[in-house]
Formats: sequence, structure tokens, C-alpha cells
Amino acid sequence: MVATGFFLASLFATALGNPLGRRAMTVHESRSEVPDGFAQQGPASPDTVLNLRIALTQSNPQGLTDALMEVSTPGNALYQQFLSKEEVEAFVAPTQETSDAVTSFLKENGITASTISPAGDWLGFQTTVSKANELFDADFQVFKHQETGSESIVTMAYSVPSDLAQHIDLVHPTISFNNPFGRLPLASVPLKSRAQPGNLSSDAIPESCTSTVTPACVQDLYGVPTTPATVKTNTLGVAGYIEQFANEADLTTFLTNLRPDISPATTFTLQTLDGGTNTQTEADAGIEADLDTQYTIGIATDVPVFFISAGEDNHDNLGGFLDWANFVLGQTSPPQVLTTSYGQNEDTVSAKLANSLCNAYQQLGARGSSVLFSSGDGGVGGSQSTRCTNFLATFPSGCPFMTSVGATLVDATTGSPETSASFSSGGFSNIFAQPSFQSAAVSAYLTKLGNTNAGKFNRSGRAFPDVAAVGENVEIVFQQEGELVAGTSCSSPIFASIVSLINDRLAAQGKGPLGFLNPFLYGAAASTFTDITTGDNPGCNTNGFPAEAGWDPVTGLGTPNFAALLQAAETAAGL
Ligand SMILES: *[C@@H]1O[C@H](CO)[C@@H](O)[C@H](O)[C@H]1NC(C)=O
Ligand SMILES: *[C@@H]1O[C@H](CO)[C@@H](O)[C@H](O)[C@H]1NC(C)=O
Repeated sequence: MVATGFFLASLFATALGNPLGRRAMTVHESRSEVPDGFAQQGPASPDTVLNLRIALTQSNPQGLTDALMEVSTPGNALYQQFLSKEEVEAFVAPTQETSDAVTSFLKENGITASTISPAGDWLGFQTTVSKANELFDADFQVFKHQETGSESIVTMAYSVPSDLAQHIDLVHPTISFNNPFGRLPLASVPLKSRAQPGNLSSDAIPESCTSTVTPACVQDLYGVPTTPATVKTNTLGVAGYIEQFANEADLTTFLTNLRPDISPATTFTLQTLDGGTNTQTEADAGIEADLDTQYTIGIATDVPVFFISAGEDNHDNLGGFLDWANFVLGQTSPPQVLTTSYGQNEDTVSAKLANSLCNAYQQLGARGSSVLFSSGDGGVGGSQSTRCTNFLATFPSGCPFMTSVGATLVDATTGSPETSASFSSGGFSNIFAQPSFQSAAVSAYLTKLGNTNAGKFNRSGRAFPDVAAVGENVEIVFQQEGELVAGTSCSSPIFASIVSLINDRLAAQGKGPLGFLNPFLYGAAASTFTDITTGDNPGCNTNGFPAEAGWDPVTGLGTPNFAALLQAAETAAGL
């Protein structure tokens, strides 16, 4: 009798939306501050449609991290014994109980969600602001970024039914802000004047680097061979976003002029998601996309390159990063190296969301892919130069399970070929703790730093960048003209290309790829880098961090030396 009574009461409550029948709710995520530069405009219109996503609690995320570290740490018995797609998915798939619990909650509320990640850990559905406010005790407001006008619909807190808290990792988009610089390559490529050769004559600098940075200069600086790759299954993926189209005619002209020793017909294979396209109209060519394709195909000689372009039809409120990661994870054989020259400030992203995306990079690493990103172009001020008092880490560079690439420039005045680029972002995450593989390198730096910048950054956070490569005065072909560009956007594809060529040499000897790089970089490979010890990365009205001997938060461990890095990789692989 009693049971029936409850049953009737709850039916009644559901029908009328009576709060008496409502599940108890628990605050799941909240934020106390609005990121710098955003102002609240008022409540979001109740009818606005939101593309909500729910990340379900994964069955064994720690198991994934453990497996990733085993396959990525030289000397471990499982080094380079990468996991299959199915093995990785088994760690991150939710339990049946979790799926059922969340699905039935949505069903009770008239919502049918679809699965939007290969492992089934993300659900997606459309609803209105008013319904979302009701479902999650949220208060969605419109926020406008003063400088760019970019709007975000954000709630400062949301709740989930208490009995579902253990089954829901996060609901998104809720407390995260859109990247306000969404219409620019996030690791920007400031366009400088047309090629204007500088006077860089110095014994310290390779002849090929005296006017502009070209593939020949990169080859000379880092000892990168021109010998073609031979293993066709060893591939390199370049991320494309925000309608940045990679132009094939620009690539052909670039190769004709600057890699005359290889076929000018060498090109990339296009893959698209979220309605991505790659129109070839000259006027639509994008600087970032041209740069990223020219400095992969132009450096990683004969490594098959995929240009993986996310269209504007992404609803992940993360500029497509989440969709892109899930797209690549859905492939049976994702590229062994992935480079992305976009990013945003970490303070716009919720900790749970940051962790979730970082988990996707762990999955890629566990399967044998090296995930590289530009560190950002605003020095210690973050992904772009902004007003700031405290230093801003960039995202996803704060994620320990990817490799962040900072920038240098060729400069004769220091007596060595390279010095730090002042725009090179670096610093310390407020979300991710410092991983053990970098703790010795980072504490040595912090000791040297003393009290400089004290209170402006988080000493216990994951420190970045990990490595650096040249990123200023870089010559590309854009809309059939020579252009000079600068940014960590140049550095990530260059470093990624070097990793790809090393993977090719390993594969030719029957070995697996390097996969998640950091334990190798901070360990066996640390001594192979050319240490950059001059310059700093100003921002937030400070001089930023100074580069020092050893790791530093401007240029990481330094710039690569191909022969030494290859030898370290071969030794680690047991060759
Ligand atoms: C470039 O520098 C060299 C050595 O410092 C000097 O001899 C030469 O005159 C300079 N050239 C120009 C064009 O400034
Ligand atoms: C500093 O970083 C740690 C992670 O290492 C984080 O838990 C903590 O909240 C951060 N502190 C601030 C003030 O953000």
C-alpha cells in the first residue's frame, strides 16, 4: 500500500512538475569568477536552444593513466606496447549502471540523447535555456567579451540529481566560457611586413637562416634530414579550425620555391568533421592552415600528412576541440603525431571539462599518438596579449598528457643561433598538478627563480611548455605571395614533423612510434636538447619568466637536435 502510494504521488508530481516529487539536487560545478574581459548582459532568452552534452563517469580513468605511463616510459617492460582502440575504450566507457541511470533521468524529462564519443562516455542532446535551467538548477546568463564582442551563455553553477552525481562527470556547456578570440588562430600568427630580410650575418647562425626561416634553415638549425620517409603507415595529422583553409596552390608554390628537392605535387589528405570543408579559392586561403601544412609537408619529407578540419557546425563550445578529439579517437589507426596551433586561456574552461579533454589526449597517447599543441602567443599573459595581473596558463598546455611547444627566434646578437621569442607562452596550470616526470626539472628552475613573480603563478601546477622550436620570421606562401609569420603556431608543426621523421626511422627498424612524448623528453632525451638560456616572455606588466640553463617556462627543455633525439629514441626502443 505504502509503495503504491509513493508511486502515485511521484507520477502526480512529474505530471505537474511539482517540486515535492523532484529528486534532491547537489551542486556539481560552480565558478566564483568571471574570466577577465567578460561582462554579464542579463538572462539568456528562455527559448535559446542549447546543445548540451553530458560526460558520463568513466569506468576506470586511473587505469588509463597507469596504462599510458607504462607504454610511454622508457625502461618500463610495456614501453611502446600501445593499446588498441578497444582496450582504451574499456577504460573510459561508462558502466551499464551509469548509462542506464543517466539515460532514464533524461527520459523522465522527455529527452532522448545520442552517444557522441566512440567509447560512449559522452551523450548529447538539444534543449532550451528554460528547460536546462529547470533540469540542472541553472541560471544561464549572457556574457559578452568587451574586446571581441564574443558572447557566451554561461551559468555560474549547476546541480545534478544527488543520486546521479556519481554517474555524471560533467554537463557542458555550463560554467565554461567560449574562447573570446574564437575568430582568430588562437596561437596567433601576427602578419608582418612582406619578406624584409634582416641582417643576421653571424658565425653562430647557419647561412640558410640569415634572411628568413625556411625549411632549409630549420633543417640546418636542428639537423633535420632531407631524406624521405619510407614507412607509409606512419602519418602526421594537422588540426584545422575556424574556416582556416589549407590552400594546395600555395603549398605547391612553397615547395617549388623552398623545397625544390621534393616533388611540388606533394600534398595532404583532407579529413573533415562538423561540416568542415577546404575550399581552394585563393582568397579563402588561411594563414594558419597554410603555415601548418607547409611546415609539416615541407619538413617531414614524404610523411603522409592529413589535414583534419573541424567545421563551424561544432556544438562543443570549445571551438571543436572535443569533437576533433572524438573524431580522431574514432579512427582505427589515428595519425601517430597530431599537431594543433590553437588554444585558449585556461581560466575560461572548467576544471572538469579540462580534465575530460585531457583524458581524450591520454587515450590518444595510450594508442601511440604524440599530441602536440602550440603553447600560446601572449607570453605569461596567455593565449593572446590581454590585460592581466596574475599570469594566465593556456589550455590545453596545462594538460600534462600532451606536449606543449614554445617558440624561439634566430638572433645573431646572443652568440648562439636561437634565443627565446618574447611572445612564447609558458607557465603553470591552476587545474593540473605537476606530473612527476617534470618535477626535478621544474623545481631546479623554481629554485633559480627565487621570489621573482611570486604570487602571480601556481608553483605546484603542471609547467609548460615542454620544448620549443623556431617561431619568428618564418617564411610561408600565402595567397601566392611570400609572407613572414610569427607565433608558437610555427613551432608546433616544426617539432611535430621532427617527431614524425623519428617515428619513420623507428618504424623502418620494426619499432613502434614514440607516442606520448613527455616521460621520454624529460628523461632519456632531456640532454639531447639545445638549451635556450636567453630572453624571457613578458606579460601582465612584468618581464615574465627568464629563460635559464635547463628547463624553463619560455622554451621548455630547448630546441631539438635530430640526430641526438633519434639516437635517444632508438636506445629507448632497444635498438
Ligand atoms: C650586416 O652585418 C654585417 C656584420 O655585422 C655588416 O658587415 C654588414 O654591413 C651588415 N649589412 C647590412 C646590410 O646592414
Ligand atoms: C594550484 O594548482 C593546483 C593543482 O596543482 C590546484 O589544485 C590549485 O587549486 C591551484 N591554485 C589556485 C589558486 O588556482
